[in-house]
Amino acid sequence: MKKINIALLGASGSIGQNTLEVLRFHKDRFNLIAVSVHRNIKKLEEIIQEFKPRYAVITSEVNYSKKDIKILRGIDGLKEVAALPDVDTVVVATAGTVGVFPTINALRSGKRVALANKETLVSFGGIVKKIESESSGEIIPVDSEHSAIFQLFTRFEREEIQDIVLTASGGAFRNLSREDMKRVTMEDALKHPTWSMGKKITVDSATLMNKGLEVIEAYWLFSMDLEHIKVVIHPQSIVHGMLTLKDGAIVAHLSIPDMKIPIQYALTYPERIESPVKNLDLTEIKKLEFYEPDYNRFPLLKLAYDVLKDGGTMPAVMNASNEIAVYAFLDGKIGFLDIERVVFQTVEKHKIIYNPSLHDLLEADKWAREYANHLIQEISKEKN
Ligand SMILES: NC(=O)c1ccc[n+]([C@@H]2O[C@H](COP(=O)([O-])OP(=O)(O)OC[C@H]3O[C@@H](n4cnc5c(N)ncnc54)[C@H](OP(=O)(O)O)[C@@H]3O)[C@@H](O)[C@H]2O)c1
Repeated sequence: MKKINIALLGASGSIGQNTLEVLRFHKDRFNLIAVSVHRNIKKLEEIIQEFKPRYAVITSEVNYSKKDIKILRGIDGLKEVAALPDVDTVVVATAGTVGVFPTINALRSGKRVALANKETLVSFGGIVKKIESESSGEIIPVDSEHSAIFQLFTRFEREEIQDIVLTASGGAFRNLSREDMKRVTMEDALKHPTWSMGKKITVDSATLMNKGLEVIEAYWLFSMDLEHIKVVIHPQSIVHGMLTLKDGAIVAHLSIPDMKIPIQYALTYPERIESPVKNLDLTEIKKLEFYEPDYNRFPLLKLAYDVLKDGGTMPAVMNASNEIAVYAFLDGKIGFLDIERVVFQTVEKHKIIYNPSLHDLLEADKWAREYANHLIQEISKEKN
């Protein structure tokens, strides 16, 4: 069997490390050809030692050199490894909007993109999907909910499907009142009830922005009208996605919450093979609950639907301002509820551009970051 050659971007992160576990488990199936990290040279050294990739990309300014491996730099480095002739699949697991550049290059070079990076579809969905449709490349989703829907979607005819249902754990503050949310700390927000993930996405789960971003991702991945993309709160995170079919039947995808399952599926699709994850025992779980999301306590989820309806540059602006606000919260500069304040005010201030080019989207992203930073400074002044 020919081994699948992998470029893993964001190898030092949570998705990156889970991907390496999959590759370790299936040494006979995969070769790691290229990796990227931003700053984490210690992890890079470990990966080079174990997997011996031929290329390493470093996207920050940190100094690093090594014999017997080609070191590339920055976005150009990500783009270069994404298009290497002997790479079959590019796993895009970097944090932030930078993921769009290697994704586009990989698609144009006819690769499979195992896409974890949400920002790529949230901010640039229209452009990325157009490039995918014009190329021989393909996007296979890695986000667990979208992987679940993808696995179900391919089993039915389009006209048989009525709704996509994405599940949300509800995050760290599922049962908290708005009053109590005023006082939560960063440590509280990072206590995710069911998933172990990077810090940014864990805070996004606590605001339910993560689910909002996923609604937008689902819209682009499955070309489904927005009113047919539903969200339910499911605290156990066992059901990852469901389809409501035209006859009223619901089909669901269940597994223990472990990213190695969707990562592996994106690498092996359409084949399904043994994974390093233990099987789900429903008799242990016993109870599966589902609730309506509370848009009043978690207004960012509602905002995601609204900006997608607005269209144009609006989702990119929401995403960029959210990213800045979440990192400001993680740096202790603003409170938890200030995240939504920054995002709402940035979105309100933005002058939308319809049918944006990639350049327009990048400019809108840049503007949103600057404006969000300005708001954060104002909030910090208020506090002191
Ligand atoms: N974690 C999950 O379970 C999960 C699930 C679904 C989707 N996702 C999505 O997958 C992506 C990665 O999430 P994660 O939780 O794995 O994040 P993470 O743990 O924070 O890891 C991020 C990775 O990206 C690199 N990175 C950071 N800043 C970068 C920059 N400016 N340019 C290029 N690379 C950069 C990091 O390198 P250093 O370590 O060197 O800084 C690291 O390798 C996100 O878009 C997230 O929304 C994650």
